[in-house]
Amino acid sequence: MRLVVGISGASGALYAERLLAALAPTRHHVDIVASKIGAEIFRQETGSDVERRVEQLTAAGARFRLWKRDDLYAPFSSGSQVYDAMAVVPCSAGLLGRMASGASNDLLSRAGDVFLKEGRALVLALRETPLSEIHLENMLKLRRAGAVILPASPGFYTRPKDLIDLADSLVQRVVDHMGVELRVHRRWREHAEPRRSASRTPASDVGRERSMES
Ligand SMILES: Cc1cc2nc3c(=O)[nH]c(=O)nc-3n(C[C@H](O)[C@H](O)[C@H](O)COP(=O)(O)O)c2cc1C
Repeated sequence: MRLVVGISGASGALYAERLLAALAPTRHHVDIVASKIGAEIFRQETGSDVERRVEQLTAAGARFRLWKRDDLYAPFSSGSQVYDAMAVVPCSAGLLGRMASGASNDLLSRAGDVFLKEGRALVLALRETPLSEIHLENMLKLRRAGAVILPASPGFYTRPKDLIDLADSLVQRVVDHMGVELRVHRRWREHAEPRRSASRTPASDVGRERSMES
């Protein structure tokens, strides 16, 4: 599959880190773009630069490529290049608004515009609280345009052991909605299984030690 992962300027960089860690061992080609504040928050919240993290995972075999946030020449900036899905994790309310208005003024908002117009899977893990009427209207507008609004609001029914476990439960929902067949985390009614048993795949363990240090 050809995928795009966007990282915008909302809290919740751990979700992005865990999504990249889950996709790294797969054969999927993943184009990555972070907004200016998205990259800053990633550094603040994970202790690592997006660039360095992508380099590490690529050196370990991931088919990743990081794009500059204003590089509108990136292939996923054009509908003529065929991609399967895009996820923005986490998604800021600002980016939500730019996408809802069709203001394609940077690579993230342009990519969202392209995925919507081409009818491709677009998953937005919005992280903001509380939500204003403007946010709610933007969510409805984007939902009606075909996006999946997947708030960064993880469930607790799998009895998460730590933040990584909690983040992985949300990442599982993200990859499900991207159409990526990947087992990242145990599902509902699987929480009684012994912890760290076969329910956790190698994919979701990639980068775990690093994330816990952060
Ligand atoms: C430390 C920090 C945390 C932020 N957290 C959020 C957040 O959780 N949700 C949100 O919608 N905006 C948040 N913002 C505000 C956005 O970063 C801001 O609206 C920015 O313009 C979004 O730009 P982007 O969409 O290009 O990433 C935060 C800003 C900073 C500096």
